[in-house]
Amino acid sequence: MAITGTELNIAKEFLIKGELVAIPTETVYGLAGNALNEKSVLSIFEVKNRPAFDPLIIHTDSIEKVKEYVSEFPETAQRLAQHFWPGPLTLLLPKKQIIPDLVTSGLDTVAVRIPKHPLLLELLAGLTFPLAAPSANPFGYISPTNAGHVDQQLGDKIPYILDGGECEVGIESTIIGFEGDDIIVYRLGGLAIEDIENVVGPVKLMPHSTSDPKAPGMLKSHYAPRKPLYLQRRNEISDEDNELMGYLLFDQYLEGLDRKYQRILSPSGDMQEAARHLFAYLRELDTLPVATIKAEWVPMTGLGLAINDRLQRASVTD
Ligand code: TXA
Ligand code: MG
Repeated sequence: MAITGTELNIAKEFLIKGELVAIPTETVYGLAGNALNEKSVLSIFEVKNRPAFDPLIIHTDSIEKVKEYVSEFPETAQRLAQHFWPGPLTLLLPKKQIIPDLVTSGLDTVAVRIPKHPLLLELLAGLTFPLAAPSANPFGYISPTNAGHVDQQLGDKIPYILDGGECEVGIESTIIGFEGDDIIVYRLGGLAIEDIENVVGPVKLMPHSTSDPKAPGMLKSHYAPRKPLYLQRRNEISDEDNELMGYLLFDQYLEGLDRKYQRILSPSGDMQEAARHLFAYLRELDTLPVATIKAEWVPMTGLGLAINDRLQRASVTD
């Protein structure tokens, strides 16, 4: 069983030995191992039951260190890095040889990010290697946003969970790559498109390239609860068929239905709060004695795009 705690030294020792540790980030918890150690990287895929064609993000704590792992760092990418790191942004950059092919699933780019979490940044600063870390959930299931979520699902497979509290952002990082002069968003995430465009101008959205999954986190069925989830507009949601249903709603309860089975992402309609609650509420609804989950589309502003993207991938209707 995993021990949960806040001891950086313990986390560091396990990582140096090549073992895996769950780490807090501002987005979701990660399942971390030494990115330069092929055995550690292999065990990440095993523990998550993740297909080897789905590459991993590496995490470190400074732009100087990032430069040890990438062979090119275009000016636009540097501008984004300067603005948004540490933060919920992942950049796809040409990799140096030091990064094992296993990490990138054979691609010649590596996904890198500097996460914004004080405990993790301190851990990273004391390591001589970057951490490869996918979200700490079994492949295809909802990402964990606190240490308890990790323990429930992977607790018997890893020795230590570094507890950094509840994740502040609550959804995974936004993934950006570069092709010629184009800036391409491969995964909508915790950094809003508007904020990115304010710094580097227009970007292209390509989050649905399922035929050629450059970012297989983009696979259609992902982030899924075990109960079937239907994504609907508010006025389409009703209780049918005498079935017990759970409801995931944006900012207000549905009248006439049991509030016990309703979760409100943000009573004040705040998108950041909604993102922070999304995965935890999906988990709660999944464990209630309901047969199906009905979720409401949220408004398409700010992080609303990324929230709807997650809901769509979790749903059976899409
Ligand atoms: O917020 C996050 O990004 C979290 C925390 C732990 O940092 N991590 C995370 O990792 O969401 P994961 O493995 O669940 O999702 C990583 C995504 C996958 O969809 C993967 O396909 C994509 O990043 N990816 C990684 N390397 C890539 C590459 N070289 N080219 C294209 N996509 C890549
Ligand atoms: Mg994931």
